[in-house]
Amino acid sequence: MKYGYFDNDNREYVITRPDVPAPWTNYLGTEKFCTVISHNAGGYSFYNSPEYNRVTKFRPNATFDRPGHYVYLRDDETGDYWSISWQPVAKSLDEASYEVRHGLSYSKFKCDYNGIEATKTLFVPKGEDAEVWDVVIKNTSDKPRTISAFSYVEFSFSHIQSDNQNHQMSLYSAGTSYNDGVIEYDLYYNTNDFEGFYYLASTFDPDSYDGQRDSFLGAYRDEANPLAVEQGKCFNTAQTCYNHCGSLHKQFVIQPGQEVHFVYILGIGKGNGERLRAKYQNLAEVDSAFAGIKAHWDERCAKFQVKSPNEGLDTMINAWTLYQAETCVVWSRFASFIEVGGRTGLGYRDTAQDAISVPHANPAMTRKRIVDLLRGQVKAGYGLHLFDPDWFDPEKADVKPSKSPTVVPTPSDEDKIHGIDDTCSDDHLWLVPTICKYVMETGEHDFFNEEIPYADGGVATVYDHMKAALDFSAEYVGQTGICKGLRADWNDCLNLGGGESSMVSFLHFWALQEFIDLAKFLGKDEDVKKYTIMAANVREACETHLWDDEGGWYIRGLTKHGDKIGTAQQSQGRVHLESNTLAVLSGAVSQERGKKAMDAVDENLFSEYGLHLNSPSFSTPNDDIGFVTRVYQGVKENGAIFSHPNPWAWVAEAKLGRGDRAMKFYDALNPYNQNDMIEKRYAEPYSYVQFIMGRDHQDHGRANHPWLTGTSGWAYFAVTNFILGVRTGFDGLTIDPCIPTNWPGFEVTRQWLGATYNIKVVNPDSVSKGVKSITVNGEAVNGVSVPIQPADSVNEVIVTLG
Ligand code: GLC
Repeated sequence: MKYGYFDNDNREYVITRPDVPAPWTNYLGTEKFCTVISHNAGGYSFYNSPEYNRVTKFRPNATFDRPGHYVYLRDDETGDYWSISWQPVAKSLDEASYEVRHGLSYSKFKCDYNGIEATKTLFVPKGEDAEVWDVVIKNTSDKPRTISAFSYVEFSFSHIQSDNQNHQMSLYSAGTSYNDGVIEYDLYYNTNDFEGFYYLASTFDPDSYDGQRDSFLGAYRDEANPLAVEQGKCFNTAQTCYNHCGSLHKQFVIQPGQEVHFVYILGIGKGNGERLRAKYQNLAEVDSAFAGIKAHWDERCAKFQVKSPNEGLDTMINAWTLYQAETCVVWSRFASFIEVGGRTGLGYRDTAQDAISVPHANPAMTRKRIVDLLRGQVKAGYGLHLFDPDWFDPEKADVKPSKSPTVVPTPSDEDKIHGIDDTCSDDHLWLVPTICKYVMETGEHDFFNEEIPYADGGVATVYDHMKAALDFSAEYVGQTGICKGLRADWNDCLNLGGGESSMVSFLHFWALQEFIDLAKFLGKDEDVKKYTIMAANVREACETHLWDDEGGWYIRGLTKHGDKIGTAQQSQGRVHLESNTLAVLSGAVSQERGKKAMDAVDENLFSEYGLHLNSPSFSTPNDDIGFVTRVYQGVKENGAIFSHPNPWAWVAEAKLGRGDRAMKFYDALNPYNQNDMIEKRYAEPYSYVQFIMGRDHQDHGRANHPWLTGTSGWAYFAVTNFILGVRTGFDGLTIDPCIPTNWPGFEVTRQWLGATYNIKVVNPDSVSKGVKSITVNGEAVNGVSVPIQPADSVNEVIVTLG
């Protein structure tokens, strides 16, 4: 079943039926103020951290996405009322029509009901810590109408949901006040922090207002039938204590064909309500703020645009996958409808991988994240699995925690730095290719010499941080020379402890290859020698101990007792995605074994929704393998279609030159292709999800945990760099695609180091891989690397495959 469509001209997904099986969300805000909002306007805002400074409340895990950021309309002649978003009033879909447009960093809600057409556009202007609700109400009937509008948000007690429920002191220290079109919410009596004030303001002069939630809603009612809306005006409440909301009401008489246009503003910081209320009286300011958001994404998307025979690929790569990847770089895994801010900070491995995808679109954020992660690395070379970058930011370290409860608490040094028992074996390794990619993109070669402190004291250059990471993995190996699994490898639920992890050794090999290329580029001959030997040892250990000859694939690892995980002899957990894809992606293994391993992946793990993580799933608990054996079959890491390593398979197939297979895998996972099977998928078709129920589960095909998943970054990186094959290097732009044989070609526009490359790839011989010739502005180029062109130049590049 279909609930909407992609509008590619506007980079929007348009929901035409609001009764989708689950809330479909979007992210508003490009800086510190963020709102996660559903297609029914349910959701929450926070400032800087979804754990601390929660501006509006949200109650997760209910069948409703409530509360939210609502506008109610009331026909004051009949008393009939509705909301511009379908929820919370939920008029019958036979009487009212709704359309929601989720765009990049904005959402537009439209409702047509009984001669009134209303729109509400939510976005967060750049440079402001506030969300604008741009509202237009038009009378499309043939008689004058008297319409009341009411806003509604429920203010939060600052911290996470559980605090809202348990921390009853907030009930006595918070309060609302009303003054001249602004409801101000003061979180903590007698505090003067910026974070301590939230507000809801309107550009109109309200007729009535409510700051007290329970007055507005009324007893034994909820957001679907608030008493204030029912009676046609608020109760003019604002006082200390209890629960708080922001409702500003105004009655308008609208002539036939006429419209009224006004703005609500939800934000943070004392005095900002008055300031923005005045500013946005001028509606041209609102339009220009909205244009600023559009321009923000125009600029980012323009860095890489593709036109290929695969419309789903174009739609996702040109907008949605980049957008999702950047959302992950900014918010890691901590602000969605699933992850509601119970703990915040950076997941080391998550951010180290996410950041590889956006150095072209957001170099500043990529750099910041790399520096954050290097500061969160210890001298021994491993990363702190979960940490708040502020703990190690020298500019923030001197800020003494104040007495204010709104300030994020700083933990003790012992709490910040965990030991080897809590260390994950992969975290630090992802950072090596990410740093290389960042420098290739920006040309900031000096970055390698920048000195950055370790989390546990001491300082080293970026280059030496990278060496520490590689050396750690060379040291922490088991009996066979394969890297230890430690608390977990990439797979959170594979807890090998003293056992050994194939995927980490393959990952180590990949990181070593990237580093050796770097050392060569920098002329560090000693390091080239040392790490080439290290890589050879890793390769030998892998080829000696990890190949399962009977099955024709690479095993997943060894338990601490030396038992192999993932052999042909086993009836559960036989074939695994991570080890086989990384074996090939890393370049560690022979073409012959690589092809066999990926054939085994296709044969054992493929489904119409993507590749399973392992199969058959585990059914017997085995604590030597880990928690994965205690997760239900077909769910999450135990035999679900776990999305994140799927792109590793696309890269692996691209490296093997099998473009048809790479595209088969890509198309299966691409959410775009599931737009007309939402009754199966449930989740939004513009976002990759963490996992899709596997064939061992009765809901096979149902997609879970949208948005915050490493899949987006890897999908973007895999398609742009390996399928389309357009990748930056230290001294040129490599173009080496691996495409389906039936593609006649494709076009890419790539902006890099100030120059534009208009790349046209033609495929006259219907091959997948192999570059016959390249010309740049009519001149032939040797090999597959186009030399860096001067800034501001526009270059025509023709690539002929064959
Ligand atoms: C989740 C985690 C990620 C982990 C993956 C597999 O996506 O965020 O860190 O690698 O699950 O367990």
